[in-house]
Amino acid sequence: MAHAHQHQHGPAAAHSSHAHAHTHDSDATPNGLPEILDLDAALFAPHLTALTGRIACLAGDDIRNIVDLGSGTGTGTFALLERFPTARVTAVDSSPAMLERLASAARDRGLGGRVNTLEADAGAGLPGVVDADLVWASASLHHLDDPATALAGIRAALRPGGLLAVAEVDGMPAFLPGSGELGALETRCRKALDGLHAEQLPHRGADWGSLLAAAGFAVEQERAEPWELRAPLPEGASRYAYLVFERIRGSLVGRISPEDLAALDRLVDGGPEDVRHRGDLVVRSLRETWMARRSA
Ligand SMILES: C[S@@+](CC[C@H](N)C(=O)[O-])C[C@H]1O[C@@H](n2cnc3c(N)ncnc32)[C@H](O)[C@@H]1O
Repeated sequence: MAHAHQHQHGPAAAHSSHAHAHTHDSDATPNGLPEILDLDAALFAPHLTALTGRIACLAGDDIRNIVDLGSGTGTGTFALLERFPTARVTAVDSSPAMLERLASAARDRGLGGRVNTLEADAGAGLPGVVDADLVWASASLHHLDDPATALAGIRAALRPGGLLAVAEVDGMPAFLPGSGELGALETRCRKALDGLHAEQLPHRGADWGSLLAAAGFAVEQERAEPWELRAPLPEGASRYAYLVFERIRGSLVGRISPEDLAALDRLVDGGPEDVRHRGDLVVRSLRETWMARRSA
């Protein structure tokens, strides 16, 4: 990537650019989200490894310059640095808190020299980023205001023949047994959240395949895969469920019945129904991916 190498590399690279940041739900103190993202990365690590493996098959080994668009705490950044040992990653996010956490984790892992951070609204182009071999956008494209403008910016940042890997999730993960009252409660909560997201994040669930093609990408793979964990669950799964229910509870006030809110409270109140004490949790989500190449 051709941007300002002297001051963008290494630990000192944090926040090398302060382009205008416009976000929907990613302010400086994202409520519980950083820990949720880190737990998601840890719990689904094998799935993530398979995904980066698919990228390597398409992209080849000669991947040097990677952009992690809407990087969050660095799930994609770290998985890709491992997969491509000679690559560098520019992590782009509009949230300084996320980028600080990512930069600190990179230093802790001895990877500070291979990571730059760039604070920017990724929907308005990627300032200073050119000739990227790979852009990874996981659970981030739906946050951007205008997909066509965002994809044009990504295309401009990629070298001809470069790859864009898009991943999107079908809403919040499911944790409760599908049958019975708790499963029904979770279904109602997911529906209410879908309604909220339809208002706040209108591009969630967009037809990314068509949007990519319209933006001048050749879509080479499109998949929908269930990511699922069952008992015995890895460490961190119940904490993950707890944090997700805590986070959504606040958003659902006025959108679900008082009885359902009370039932949600019982899932996080430390009592006998609390998700941290249950033996019947699962973690399920549907992950959709698109692998698209920038035509020459
Ligand atoms: C759901 S998180 C996904 C994080 C990460 N890619 C992952 O898979 O764990 C979405 C991220 O996109 C960032 N984001 C939202 N709007 C953005 C924008 N306009 N420009 C750049 N980043 C944005 C948020 O701050 C957040 O870190």
